[in-house]
Amino acid sequence: MKILIVDDEEMQRNMLQGFLEKQGFQTLTASGGQEALDLFTRHPVQLVLIDHRMEDMNGDVVLEKMKALSPLVKTIMITAYGSINTAVHVMKLGVNDFLEKPLDLEELLKKIRKFEQELDVQAEAEVVIESIQQQKFPFAIIGSSKKMQELLSMVCRLSPTEWSVLIRGETGTGKELIARLIHYMSHRKNERLIEVNCAAIPENLFESELFGHEKGSFTGASAQRKGRFELANKGSIFLDEIGELSLQFQAKLLRTLQEKKVTRVGGEIDIEIDTRVLAATNRDLKKMVEEGYFREDLYFRLNVLELIVPPLRERREDIIELADHFLKKYKFDVSFDPEALAQLVKYDFPGNVRELEHLVQRLGTMVRGKLIQLKDMPPLIREKKNNTGILTDRLSEVETEMLLNELEKNDWVQTKAAEALGISERVLRYKMNKANIKSKK
Ligand SMILES: Nc1ncnc2c1ncn2[C@@H]1O[C@H](COP(=O)(O)OP(=O)(O)OP(=O)(O)O)[C@@H](O)[C@H]1O
Ligand SMILES: [Mg+2]
Repeated sequence: MKILIVDDEEMQRNMLQGFLEKQGFQTLTASGGQEALDLFTRHPVQLVLIDHRMEDMNGDVVLEKMKALSPLVKTIMITAYGSINTAVHVMKLGVNDFLEKPLDLEELLKKIRKFEQELDVQAEAEVVIESIQQQKFPFAIIGSSKKMQELLSMVCRLSPTEWSVLIRGETGTGKELIARLIHYMSHRKNERLIEVNCAAIPENLFESELFGHEKGSFTGASAQRKGRFELANKGSIFLDEIGELSLQFQAKLLRTLQEKKVTRVGGEIDIEIDTRVLAATNRDLKKMVEEGYFREDLYFRLNVLELIVPPLRERREDIIELADHFLKKYKFDVSFDPEALAQLVKYDFPGNVRELEHLVQRLGTMVRGKLIQLKDMPPLIREKKNNTGILTDRLSEVETEMLLNELEKNDWVQTKAAEALGISERVLRYKMNKANIKSKK
């Protein structure tokens, strides 16, 4: 990782450079804003450490320009102690983090390590997104939010393996999309991906659907038929809504997975199959196991790797991009008014991405003119008051981190932590409660 250090105080600059190089980072230094920008345009830098107050140009102005040039660069602003108002201000500019003077080098190092991990995640997620674009898959995936980037980086790592994957998530979050992605990112991508909706197959046809049947094996079986497992040979099978499978068929499925063989209904011979299994559910399978509705052995076999697709309300950053994506997907030549978009981001979307997709289809069809306005939105969204947004989310994330930091530093003595934070103990307790931080004392 290459780090650019920007500070007009020579001592501070040298100290940081010495420290970071000793930790094995490559560094560049600049003594002012203009010099920093010149360096930045000429060298690929992953992280910028910048002093807020500098003679020629304030740090926030410099960072804003850098972010415009390279949105993925990570930035840490160094501010004077106690200038929390400035912190709020700089966070709005998209600064990733800030540190107060005097610098705590351990804390700095911790933040840098966190960024390194995030950059790895971003790079892996990028691999997934790029390969979708290059291979011209019949689908697109939107996922710039941190949670989706983490998910996509997992997809990148587990796709080339042979392990079974269990994909969990609320309805409409994109589980099926993720299953397809795994198949198309795997070595099996040129073979078939066979999808089976376990909830949609009638009980009495299940066995024949999955394992096939021989001619005359039951009334209506007028010809031999291959089952889905056989069709998915060498490819992948996607068992959707796996939580809806009856106990009887869970047993049959387990045997197939264990033995890697199927027998057609009415057939004599075992047919070997080589199929990667992907499964999805919106149910809590673990709880179903505890309650006796789902076989534990089958659960473990499917759940070698687990992916959780986060609900849309936990990645509101994606809402705007998804809304635009769906307008394009359905070829609507309209756009959202900023006020309407802002309101859309506040809504919780219990039906997740699918609900958003349907909403965009409806709005795109019904709107008069080229602009979807607030008044065109359904009342449920129009009247949504709760103002959680990207910035509030990010700010509370930072606040939680600050609380945890001070508590750790002060051995979890709340009086001391409160004093260091400049708030009363009562406010500290309130904030801890809100952030779900449990006292360790
Ligand atoms: N990240 C995304 N980018 C683009 N489109 C998405 C994304 N996630 C989901 N979609 C779209 O949203 C719709 C619902 O996704 P999908 O069917 O994969 O959800 P699901 O989790 O399988 O839902 P269910 O639980 O109801 O089966 C699909 O049309 C899908 O293409
Ligand atoms: Mg689905």
